[in-house]
Amino acid sequence: MARIITLTVNPAIDKSTTVDGIAADTKLRCTQPTFDAGGGGINVSRAIHKLGGSSLCSYFAGGPAGEFLKKLLDEQHIEQSVIPIEGWTRENLAVTDTSTNQQYRFGMPGPAVKEVEWQNALQQLELQLQKGDYLVASGKLPPNVPDDFYVKVSRVAEKKEALFILDTSGEALMKAAKSKIYMLKPNLAELGALCGTTSITDLDLKSLATQFLKNHDCQILVVSLGPKGALLATSTKMVHVPAPVVHQKSTIGAGDSMVAGMVMSLIWDRSLADMVRYGVACGTAATMHHGTQLCIKKDADKLYDWIKDQKPI
Ligand SMILES: Nc1ncnc2c1ncn2[C@@H]1O[C@H](COP(=O)(O)OP(=O)(O)OP(=O)(O)O)[C@@H](O)[C@H]1O
Ligand SMILES: [Mg+2]
Repeated sequence: MARIITLTVNPAIDKSTTVDGIAADTKLRCTQPTFDAGGGGINVSRAIHKLGGSSLCSYFAGGPAGEFLKKLLDEQHIEQSVIPIEGWTRENLAVTDTSTNQQYRFGMPGPAVKEVEWQNALQQLELQLQKGDYLVASGKLPPNVPDDFYVKVSRVAEKKEALFILDTSGEALMKAAKSKIYMLKPNLAELGALCGTTSITDLDLKSLATQFLKNHDCQILVVSLGPKGALLATSTKMVHVPAPVVHQKSTIGAGDSMVAGMVMSLIWDRSLADMVRYGVACGTAATMHHGTQLCIKKDADKLYDWIKDQKPI
């Protein structure tokens, strides 16, 4: 059976806390923090686990925070493949001001990764991947990893006849889009960057998606549209899936939960349209909870049923 391997090149420990009022030049007394394993691919693996699936979670880790990351994922019974690095895994901080209910999120750049270390990651992937596996890479690149790293990852996947699923942004996305990709999940801004435009209207979204598929070696394009759901585009299909309106608490991890829902649907052999419906359900389910909790299967399944019940007018 096809397996799922996720790849996280810039993971993090996400530390969250609350404080009653934020002001400069004063000691802010925070509540006891909570810690979560974070970073694109790691979030996808955690969400897959919550949906009842399993994956091999491969990530760079170093220093005490790297050890802690491993412990956090062990506690969630997620199978891991650690790529050791000398730099220390980053720690991000999210502070919610309880007096205003506003959240302040501080993201760190992550450690520089040496060439020998990222080369090692490519070698590990080559050993692990088997024909038909899904390789899901999600997240930005850390310092010192070349912008074309995901192009190299794509080549490994192609060589091993694995299916490469990518969710990234910036220069890494621009470079990788030129390589062989099974499924790409940009949001609207990321698709805009790929198509050389700063804004995309509803009127030109479908033609830009068609044009992108014509000019790239990408089989499935899923453009996530935040509260407007997602657009599935292939060379023969174009389906818009609206997102249900829910009580929204936080959009953190919506994209990763969506990717998890889609890759699980591929494992379950669902149609591509149902794959995107479940992806939207999982993305929207993630917005129903605070912080880094990702999607809950019960919510996702309920939203999926609702989406499937929507008849086109
Ligand atoms: N406000 C919202 N209401 C309902 N669903 C939402 C909302 N925001 C996101 N979603 C769901 O999550 C999916 C992914 O969201 P979005 O398009 O914002 O991805 P993204 O920009 O990649 O997110 P991320 O910040 O996690 O990288 C959407 O397709 C939708 O199903
Ligand atoms: Mg995203």
